[in-house]
Amino acid sequence: MNGFDTRLFAGKTVVVTGSGRGIGAAVARGFLQTGARVIAHAGRTLDHAEDDLLVGLSEAEKDRLTLLAGDLAERDGGERLGSAVLQELDGPLDVLVNNAGTMVGRIAAGDVDAAAFDRVVDLNVRSVVASTTALLPALKEGGRAEGGAAIVNTSSISAIVGGSPGSSLYSSSKAFISTWTRALARELAPDHVRVNAVSPGTIMTDFHRRYSSQEKLDATAASIPLKRLGTAEDCAPAYLFLSSAKLSGYLTGQVIEVNGGQFMG
Ligand SMILES: NC(=O)c1ccc[n+]([C@@H]2O[C@H](COP(=O)([O-])OP(=O)(O)OC[C@H]3O[C@@H](n4cnc5c(N)ncnc54)[C@H](OP(=O)(O)O)[C@@H]3O)[C@@H](O)[C@H]2O)c1
Repeated sequence: MNGFDTRLFAGKTVVVTGSGRGIGAAVARGFLQTGARVIAHAGRTLDHAEDDLLVGLSEAEKDRLTLLAGDLAERDGGERLGSAVLQELDGPLDVLVNNAGTMVGRIAAGDVDAAAFDRVVDLNVRSVVASTTALLPALKEGGRAEGGAAIVNTSSISAIVGGSPGSSLYSSSKAFISTWTRALARELAPDHVRVNAVSPGTIMTDFHRRYSSQEKLDATAASIPLKRLGTAEDCAPAYLFLSSAKLSGYLTGQVIEVNGGQFMG
């Protein structure tokens, strides 16, 4: 359990993208444990959900879970996800967590071409903007309920520090997400839709199992003030906090760094 009131999100409908595994899975589980109905975009397929998101869920939690899949790196992936979610919604949307994303690959600056640019930006930027735009009417409807609605985006420590070699497109795509968070926060405040972001540091998920060597990870852990890498469970509470009007009703346009002190703004 995560220490939050088990009824915190009772009666609320929450969408979490990229939640079959990793940070998104911990976030979706956190919402299920606190009473929400969760529409979980698991990822490109449902394959990873069996080994992560679904592990240990009670029958009651599974009853409040709807699983979707779809490739968000495709040009119209965001629009298609938006339509799929709208088909599942039978009322307002209270919380949207935009979490799906990845580095795609380490691409040296000299190897960046139009195809690489499109792959990284379509996934981490285009799909996030497109699916959020499609869901805005439902979120604005959520905004009319007590406490309003919330969007929580996933940025990255690399948005500020620039990441490590080969991550220029990815890090910059996350910088877009941080700025877009602030812009949307201002624009949607009159509709009572708060918009914030979580910016994870170095979190041990499949992301780093793919893109970072053990040697690099050990060196990073040693350099972090709290002397360890983060976990998906370290990140999830920040998403729940930012989604709850009771806990963060006066916060909007903020990017919360969850990184063990790796970067301090
Ligand atoms: N781990 C870190 O250190 C770290 C640091 C800063 C920011 N982040 C961000 O945190 C978020 C979650 O990352 P994570 O660490 O939990 O990584 P992860 O375990 O690799 O999970 C990434 C999630 O995004 C989904 N996704 C990736 N590419 C997709 C695509 N083309 N279409 C649809 N879904 C796709 C994945 O689905 P599949 O299972 O189909 O791949 C998975 O559900 C990402 O936005 C990442 O950029 C992570």
